[in-house]
Amino acid sequence: MQAIAFGPGRFAKTAYRIRERFNIDESLSLIAEVEGQSCGSVWMTPISIGGINGWMLGPLATHPNFRKLGAGKLLAREVTKRALARGDGEFVMLVGDRDYYCPLGWEPTTLGNIAFPGPVDPTRVLVYGEDKSLAETLTGAIAAWVQG
Ligand SMILES: CC(C)(COP(=O)(O)OP(=O)(O)OC[C@H]1O[C@@H](n2cnc3c(N)ncnc32)[C@H](O)[C@@H]1OP(=O)(O)O)[C@@H](O)C(=O)NCCC(=O)NCCS
Repeated sequence: MQAIAFGPGRFAKTAYRIRERFNIDESLSLIAEVEGQSCGSVWMTPISIGGINGWMLGPLATHPNFRKLGAGKLLAREVTKRALARGDGEFVMLVGDRDYYCPLGWEPTTLGNIAFPGPVDPTRVLVYGEDKSLAETLTGAIAAWVQG
């Protein structure tokens, strides 16, 4: 699914690096189905930024045959709701298109505040948090989830 949806690219490699380093949380990885057939998927990686725990969402991908049916938005909303309901992480960060994610509640971050282990377009670094000031204030390098 993701191999079909994403071409090779240096920005994508930065996200791969984070997922490799910090491991995805399989209990927060969802697959959307239509009549029993997989049509989309999303992964979450536990991380911390500036000592605050949260998740990086991605990749989010819908199979080309099933696009524009609402699967992508449903997956992004649902995985974010499930993650934040756990109560031990405060944000869901992702690198993606503002036009797609901001209507769902993600907000642009302060440019350059979040340091990635590789190149990233800072205008595409978006954060969802119940605390709406987090998108502006979250600062630091992406690090491992801080064990309580
Ligand atoms: C982006 C993606 C996940 C959307 O999946 P989807 O299941 O078609 O999404 P939805 O059905 O929930 O939403 C579709 C709507 O979003 C719009 N949309 C899709 N990609 C968009 C983007 N990058 N920017 C703005 N709007 C976008 C569609 O035009 C459509 O609009 P409409 O409802 O007015 O027709 C899918 O196109 C995909 O897998 N793309 C390749 C991988 C990718 O770019 N992933 C996102 C980065 S993490």
